[in-house]
Amino acid sequence: MNELLAVQNLTVTLPTTRGPVDVVKDVSFTVGRDETVGIVGESGSGKSMTSLAIMGLLPRGAMTKGSIRLDGAELLHRTDREMRRIRGEQASMIFQDPLSSLNPYYTVGLQIEEMYRAHRGGSRKAARKAVVEALRQVGIPEPQERAGHYPHQFSGGQRQRIMIAMALVCSPALLIADEPTTALDVTVQAQILRLLADLQRQTHTGMVFITHDLAVIGSIATRVLVMCEGQQVEYGTAEQVFSAPRHAYTRRLLESIPRITDDLPADEVVL
Ligand SMILES: Nc1ncnc2c1ncn2[C@@H]1O[C@H](COP(=O)(O)OP(=O)(O)O)[C@@H](O)[C@H]1O
Ligand SMILES: [Mg+2]
Repeated sequence: MNELLAVQNLTVTLPTTRGPVDVVKDVSFTVGRDETVGIVGESGSGKSMTSLAIMGLLPRGAMTKGSIRLDGAELLHRTDREMRRIRGEQASMIFQDPLSSLNPYYTVGLQIEEMYRAHRGGSRKAARKAVVEALRQVGIPEPQERAGHYPHQFSGGQRQRIMIAMALVCSPALLIADEPTTALDVTVQAQILRLLADLQRQTHTGMVFITHDLAVIGSIATRVLVMCEGQQVEYGTAEQVFSAPRHAYTRRLLESIPRITDDLPADEVVL
């Protein structure tokens, strides 16, 4: 079986002051081992709630229907304790804002080390070695020395690299990246995208890459799920979705992608 993650008819209902609201409605998709699936949609379309449901991190009071199977095992309705074990060991997530996920009072090395030891155990020495290796893998120069630095001593792009190192240090089968480059400038964004794509190939991690920017998806995902107001409006290979979008909403997203040629005077446009 080549299927790593299977989300079937997932509905997420959140309590609000106006009563329960379905923020994810009947969403189904799969992620193969060694595959990157993109989830794209405007802000508020339910992308994060879909990923939080997979990670068992939905807000208190949330209700779910459907099924989420990782490696064949159902993830919905597990205990907190079981989900804590699954997070890190089998599935990891990186978020848009690394500062809110890193503790400012501990060195980054110690934070990655704790993550590693909580799941893998072993000696402190072995954990330290894994930390330095993880930092090297995500392209932090002089990883041995940098492991002893605090989060504020790194740039935004480097902090996102550190989050990726922390997410991958236990070699999870699934990595969910929820808008990991949104807060970064365009050049750094491109570097992080390349890093994720390279790591995905090296480690054979199944990846869910979430973004509101359809332009980013083409470079990283083989299959794409488009969400609009909690619903899945499109699902297919990146090629299918880009070349023949079936839904008006996808066409609007595609039209809003700035083309490089847009900035050039007409006589310099090379077709
Ligand atoms: N804690 C919450 N309680 C109630 N509604 C929420 C909560 N968090 C988010 N929402 C709503 O759920 C919907 C989906 O949100 P989200 O999954 O975060 O969207 P996206 O990640 O696509 O921007 C939005 O309409 C949002 O306003
Ligand atoms: Mg979100």
